[in-house]
Amino acid sequence: MLNLDEIRSHFPALASDTIYFDNPGGTQVAREVIQRTDRYLRSTNANHGGAFHTSMASDATVAEARQAVADFLNAARPEEIVFGPNMTTLTFSISRSLARTLHAGDEIVVTRLDHDGNVAPWLFIAEDRGCTIRWVDIHEEDCTLDLQDLERQITERTKIVAIGYASNAVGTINDVQRAVQLAHNVGALCFVDAVQYAPHRPIDVQALDCDFLACSAYKFFGPHLGILYGKYDLLDSLTAYKVRPAGDLPPDKFETGTQNFEGIAATLGAMEYFEWLGNTFGSEYAANYQGSFSGRALALKQAMAAIEVYEIELNHSLLESLGSIAGLQIRGITSPHGLHQRVPTFSFTLQGWTPRAIAEALAAEGINVWDGNFYALSVTERLGLEEQGGLLRVGLAHYNTQAEIDKLVDALGRLVQ
Ligand SMILES: Cc1ncc(COP(=O)(O)O)c(C=O)c1O
Repeated sequence: MLNLDEIRSHFPALASDTIYFDNPGGTQVAREVIQRTDRYLRSTNANHGGAFHTSMASDATVAEARQAVADFLNAARPEEIVFGPNMTTLTFSISRSLARTLHAGDEIVVTRLDHDGNVAPWLFIAEDRGCTIRWVDIHEEDCTLDLQDLERQITERTKIVAIGYASNAVGTINDVQRAVQLAHNVGALCFVDAVQYAPHRPIDVQALDCDFLACSAYKFFGPHLGILYGKYDLLDSLTAYKVRPAGDLPPDKFETGTQNFEGIAATLGAMEYFEWLGNTFGSEYAANYQGSFSGRALALKQAMAAIEVYEIELNHSLLESLGSIAGLQIRGITSPHGLHQRVPTFSFTLQGWTPRAIAEALAAEGINVWDGNFYALSVTERLGLEEQGGLLRVGLAHYNTQAEIDKLVDALGRLVQ
């Protein structure tokens, strides 16, 4: 069980009175992240591959961070982890390499539940290569992905299936395992956007058997850095758009230009935070993972298991509280039995209020929430909400508390009085 006081003491920003419910847009950072950034910039700041001490120390930190992220995602080897500026840029980059393998008439499957970072790159390469885009629809009533439609849209001509692990707009967790199987049945690749899943649940790329998976450290208590996992042989076989004489092997060939070394060091800090959390509060979940994981990898799994359990409690509490507010309509899963199938990201509309006006009213009370479409444009378009300013999004993380939920509900209650 998590001790919230101890957890929160790891986040300097949480010492203020602000209530951070803007987490899906970016979380606060753990002190381990700040310490790693500070240490990197003070004592090992140098470019890659030099014969001198600081460069070697910098390279060693990058190698350690890569191994830690490989443990976090359970990649088979650290070379399967590519660092870059953010998920969007990494996805555009790898999509350009994948485009070279496509031919006119090939098909790419995308979903209406996804952030545009996992849609637009595929639309562009489809246009470049004369491929067809097939859209998977959602069930409007609970914003879950229509799995029958997914099955329909995947055909013998499908080459790539792009799917989100969890929606940044409405919190739905998708059955990614099924999507991977369906893609592989027809010889297609599956690209998973795990940006909104990674802060909330354990990820195991080998168990999923996905071909690519992208996430962003700033969504899981780290710095602004993107991460792309790819199966080694695939990364090896693709052509990278890179300069000479940069390395020909993964991950070097995809890490173009000088990397954000302090961001990579800070990402190691985020892994250290999770490791601490897992060792301190997650040992009761060890039995679920023993035999498969040990050391840091086990601690990371324990951390995410403990976070998952706590966040499902938050899901129940937030759902119940929001349900008591007149005129408030949640978009997404609201059945108490389905709450394990969503991350604690709740979006809603409130009668008589635009999402922006609610966000401003809450900001005046020190409560940070997002409004709009959050770049999940096809969701707000599909729900017919784009013209009305989209949705109001309350996104929780494991450092949020029941007392904070109570303050939110109190503030919302006063708005509708
Ligand atoms: C689900 C999802 N995918 C992709 C992105 C884009 O991530 P990045 O900012 O790292 O490009 C976001 C950002 O909010 C997101 O929530």
